[in-house]
Amino acid sequence: MLALPTGRTPLELYRELVARHARGGLDLSCATTFNLDEFVGVAGDDAGSFRAYLDRHLCSKVRLAQSHFLDGAAPDLDAECERYERALADAGGLDVALLGIGTNGHVAFNEPGAELSVGTTKVRLSRETRLANAAFFGDEPSRVPLEALTMGMGTILAARELVVMAFGASKREAVKRMLSGKVTTEHPASLLQLHPKVTLYLDAAAAP
Ligand code: PGA
Repeated sequence: MLALPTGRTPLELYRELVARHARGGLDLSCATTFNLDEFVGVAGDDAGSFRAYLDRHLCSKVRLAQSHFLDGAAPDLDAECERYERALADAGGLDVALLGIGTNGHVAFNEPGAELSVGTTKVRLSRETRLANAAFFGDEPSRVPLEALTMGMGTILAARELVVMAFGASKREAVKRMLSGKVTTEHPASLLQLHPKVTLYLDAAAAP
């Protein structure tokens, strides 16, 4: 039971998983996956969706037991978030959540703010996040949706194990705050310090 991220950070990991699978050294047929997040108003078959991203980089290339996605084009978004939480619970909860972090400290699309949601929810994306995701929308930040659906911080922290990846100098400050010994909703990654089993993978540039 895996939660999977999108974005630039996990690309090398997905390439490696696909390569090992192709060589016959990796069996993922028992793995069930749940995408962490999705843009609101973007259907799964839209090339800019996170569902399409995961299909492209992993799901179409390896044999998985099942893959679950949030539907950003669902008519009732609250019901969609509830459906996702139920599907997670019915499947027995997450074993491992693979996570990237945003330069602003977001985890999945849990953005910095006065409050964070425990469960899967609809959020408003920050300007910084919309800029960082412009590549999915023809390099036009204005075309990046204003809202997204995301697994909540509680859903993520309930995973039995977290694997966090951060690469490149642009992530160094976010990593530093993530490891500060203090938690704040203004830096969602800092809450990961509350989890008993976290493995952090950094390259030299991202290491504080
Ligand atoms: P990135 O995004 O992997 O494209 O840097 C990470 C994130 O926003 O969580």
